[in-house]
Amino acid sequence: LNVLRRELVDVQGIPLFWSIAEEWFQVQSFEARPDDVLISTYPKSGTTWISEILDLIYNNGDAEKCKRDAIYNRVPFMELIIPGLTNGVEQLKNMQSPRLVKTHLPVQLLPSSFWKNDCKMIYVARNAKDVAVSYYYFYQMAKIHPEPGTWEEFLDKFMTGKVAFGSWYDHVKGWWEKKKDYPILYLFYEDMKENPKGGIQKLLKFLEKDIPEEIVDKILYHSSFDVMKQNTSANYTTLSKEEMDHSVSPFMRKGISGDWKNHFTVAQYEKFEEDYKEKMRGSTLQFRSQI
Ligand code: PPS
Repeated sequence: LNVLRRELVDVQGIPLFWSIAEEWFQVQSFEARPDDVLISTYPKSGTTWISEILDLIYNNGDAEKCKRDAIYNRVPFMELIIPGLTNGVEQLKNMQSPRLVKTHLPVQLLPSSFWKNDCKMIYVARNAKDVAVSYYYFYQMAKIHPEPGTWEEFLDKFMTGKVAFGSWYDHVKGWWEKKKDYPILYLFYEDMKENPKGGIQKLLKFLEKDIPEEIVDKILYHSSFDVMKQNTSANYTTLSKEEMDHSVSPFMRKGISGDWKNHFTVAQYEKFEEDYKEKMRGSTLQFRSQI
């Protein structure tokens, strides 16, 4: 199985799964439609959570309808092409509008048709240290990734951007800067955790949708971590063990803010913070949960 080739290949300086790099022309020429809604994130930042909320919104809170298929089919991962296994570009081509589209691409690699069609875009960012921890577990359970090595080794790769989809720092800053000349809804995982209902309301406003409060509450319930963890249409357990091994670590792992405190040593924390200041210097982008 091709999925066993666990290798990253640079596309314009960004490490991507080798098969995405090989099929890059397909991704670049992706045809967005004006009513597409794009969910953009650096990996492990709340993509699945926001995707589920959006599908619930599109289906007026009907949780049964949202169980029609797995999340990766309801909200296809555009650039994910693995020969013989999946092709996000093809999947989306065959999908009826309105489409929800997932991407992890840094802003400069997004296919130009999204900008040309004035698509609505939602970006979700999560604090770096929790992303690093979540990514470390994901690297182990999702077999498309190269071996992560030890936590210490993986953290070093994360800090130097030598992980799939490149530097977290450049990713969050790049999409943040773009907000100046394009109306992107930029959300934070930590805000969603603190006030999920407020987050859903922000999404509704951005999408210009008005729905009754009891439907909002239904969406809130069905998109909660505990409910999604049990939902086989949302928790990725329908993939084969060769793709994701949930016995190594479940996809729906903890779903909290601040788990980094259980993983970083004091030395790792100090080194990380020092480097963080350097990499984020000059940006107006502020994250909570840095303490
Ligand atoms: S991916 O593979 O990049 O699409 O992963 P992504 O969905 O972005 O991130 C996975 C992390 O999000 C957590 N998660 C949630 N947190 C809170 N509420 C809900 N409903 C929710 N759904 C998923 C998931 O547990 C991963 O974080 P960690 O810290 O590993 O638990």
